[in-house]
Amino acid sequence: MNAMTEAPIAVHPKATAVVTCLVGALAGLMFGLDIGVISGATQFIQHDFGISDRTVEHIVSWMMLGAAAGALVAGWLSSHLGRKRSLIAGSLLFALASIACGLSNSVAMLLFARLGLGVSIGVLTFTAPLYLAEIAPERIRGAMVSLYQLMITIGILIAFLSDTAFSYSGNWHWMLGIIAIPGVLFLLGVLALPDSPRWLMMVGRHDQAMAVLSKLRGDPAVVMREAADIQEQLRIPQRGWHMFLQNRNFRRSVGLGVLLQIMQQLTGMNVMMYYAPRVFGNVGFGLHAQMWGTVIVGVTNVLATFIAIGLVDRWGRKPILYAGFLIMATGLGIVGAMMHIGITTHGQQIFTVAMLLMFITGFAMSAGPLIWILCSEVQPLKGRDFGIGASTFANWIGNFVVGATFLTLLNKFGDANTFWLYAGLNLLFFVFTIWLIPETRGVTLEQIERNLMAGKALRHIGR
Ligand code: BGC
Repeated sequence: MNAMTEAPIAVHPKATAVVTCLVGALAGLMFGLDIGVISGATQFIQHDFGISDRTVEHIVSWMMLGAAAGALVAGWLSSHLGRKRSLIAGSLLFALASIACGLSNSVAMLLFARLGLGVSIGVLTFTAPLYLAEIAPERIRGAMVSLYQLMITIGILIAFLSDTAFSYSGNWHWMLGIIAIPGVLFLLGVLALPDSPRWLMMVGRHDQAMAVLSKLRGDPAVVMREAADIQEQLRIPQRGWHMFLQNRNFRRSVGLGVLLQIMQQLTGMNVMMYYAPRVFGNVGFGLHAQMWGTVIVGVTNVLATFIAIGLVDRWGRKPILYAGFLIMATGLGIVGAMMHIGITTHGQQIFTVAMLLMFITGFAMSAGPLIWILCSEVQPLKGRDFGIGASTFANWIGNFVVGATFLTLLNKFGDANTFWLYAGLNLLFFVFTIWLIPETRGVTLEQIERNLMAGKALRHIGR
């Protein structure tokens, strides 16, 4: 039997499942660390290398370009090497690329290290949710998705805190390098994980799959039922690309997933994730206030995610998205107005920060987690890997566009117009939600698929 599946896992099946899920969810933490780490470093990097805003945008956004590429190869990797080996490769690259970022002594080196970091996170953000969905016991699967989202925001917050601590010495090398430590811890955790039973069955290693399932679930009846389920599912081959070319209804759901992720990114949330200290600087705060302001952004992001977790199955998807887009548009619109008028007094500064936090709350309670949930719900089974791969790719491309253009927008069109632009986009997305987005609360995935394939309008596929 393969040494990897023999890896040391806890004896008690319940404990094993929980540990497995926790380690898996740490991938969300890596996602967050990766997003958050650059915000506090850019001003020091800019000062050290004496570079323009345009070059700073490149340093920020090459990571997302790498992630888009990583998400593209991750599908191939995770089906050929397996989920576990993909996670190992992703976390190893994450640790190495973080160290390379920290050691960078030229812009070129930093750019390539950021690209590598991006590739690693692209692989991890595709593979980890897949692995989690395949390994988590049925009854905690829903909670796992929420936990994964929460971990992203916690990762961002930790990165903000660590950047703030290092900002006193101004040492950006440490800011970027230190996230190698969680990277290595994650790698060690992954080494102790079992392979996904579903993947083992997919590649014909039936005995190993059964051994892992028994260790994970314990109860022989549950093991037999799940094994039968997996085999049943595997009879439906993934024919994503073929189906995309042949089936108009599938093209609609892929298009919907892509649109959802582009909407999520063009809310402008990552403007704050990457450039919060700069925004606080433009509001008139000094260095340390900028850094602590960014930490408050991170805390708000974590806390408001609980609102989504609490409401998603009570209110449904659409009402939360309506509320979120309106709150974001209002917050950003007022920030733009304040910047237009000119922020001169302390009271105006505080009010503007409150509006920025309102925007963050609007995102974290809605589009942050919900778009990921919707994207996993709207694809038909046969094309699910392809559909989710396409929307995840779109997430990183949208993320890249936002990261690569924000400073240029500020410099060319001014602060107020840039914030108004994002406010306008959020209003547009409010309208898109009415028009195009289905309500999927309490509807089985099979029903959604039947409606989609029957040619129902996208906004009605959740009925
Ligand atoms: C988004 C990321 C974003 C994060 C902020 C995620 O759902 O995909 O781009 O940085 O939320 O919490």
